[in-house]
Amino acid sequence: MTQKKSLLQRLTDLTRTSHRAAFVDVVKQIEKHHHGSEDFLELVKNRYSCRNFNNRPVSDVKIQKILEAARLAPTAKNQQPVHVWVVKSEEALARLKETSNSIYDAPVVFMVGCKPENAWVRRYDGKNGAETDAAIVGTHILLEAADLELGSVWVGSFDAAKLSELFPETAGWTITALFPVGAPSAEAHPSENHGKRQSLEEFATEI
Ligand SMILES: Cc1cc2nc3c(=O)[nH]c(=O)nc-3n(C[C@H](O)[C@H](O)[C@H](O)COP(=O)(O)O)c2cc1C
Repeated sequence: MTQKKSLLQRLTDLTRTSHRAAFVDVVKQIEKHHHGSEDFLELVKNRYSCRNFNNRPVSDVKIQKILEAARLAPTAKNQQPVHVWVVKSEEALARLKETSNSIYDAPVVFMVGCKPENAWVRRYDGKNGAETDAAIVGTHILLEAADLELGSVWVGSFDAAKLSELFPETAGWTITALFPVGAPSAEAHPSENHGKRQSLEEFATEI
């Protein structure tokens, strides 16, 4: 943003002094920035599944920011069939640990659930959109946490029946995923998988 501002300032200055060649150069640079900031791609590249947290609590301001990013996620036909529970008391975290081996002692866990009966349904084949909507909410949680320099991980491996029994407030909801979040410990590091992705040729096809 600061870079963009200074480019605009330069553009104004250059327009005043009519340096035409330099003007073209600055416009090109602005266009480059206008087409998407490199910062977002850097954020995406640097995010990794964090499985080692220090025990410092996550501030309420940061929790609110993550919730805001989650709340603003798009959902099919804007039906918003998703709910988030913030699990942060010691007692609730201990209960949650009984349902999954992937809580990694995080100081806070965002639990994302959806209600298929509230979701958009594709009329052609009856496909229900609830899990897709919840997955987008989850993705916003991961990316906002990364932007706040917090570690996070998507956890799909949990005992859903046990969770529903231990967290009666989730009755009627399908829990899609758990998101442990916290400051990464000194030992936290990306796993080998983080660097392993399909090549662009394998991944995408132009037709
Ligand atoms: C749908 C889904 C479910 C996942 N479930 C778990 C899980 O239960 N436990 C875990 O430690 N990591 C889990 N992960 C994290 C993946 O293993 C990880 O994203 C993948 O290996 C790529 O690594 P990276 O996130 O560090 O780039 C899950 C990720 C996704 C998208």
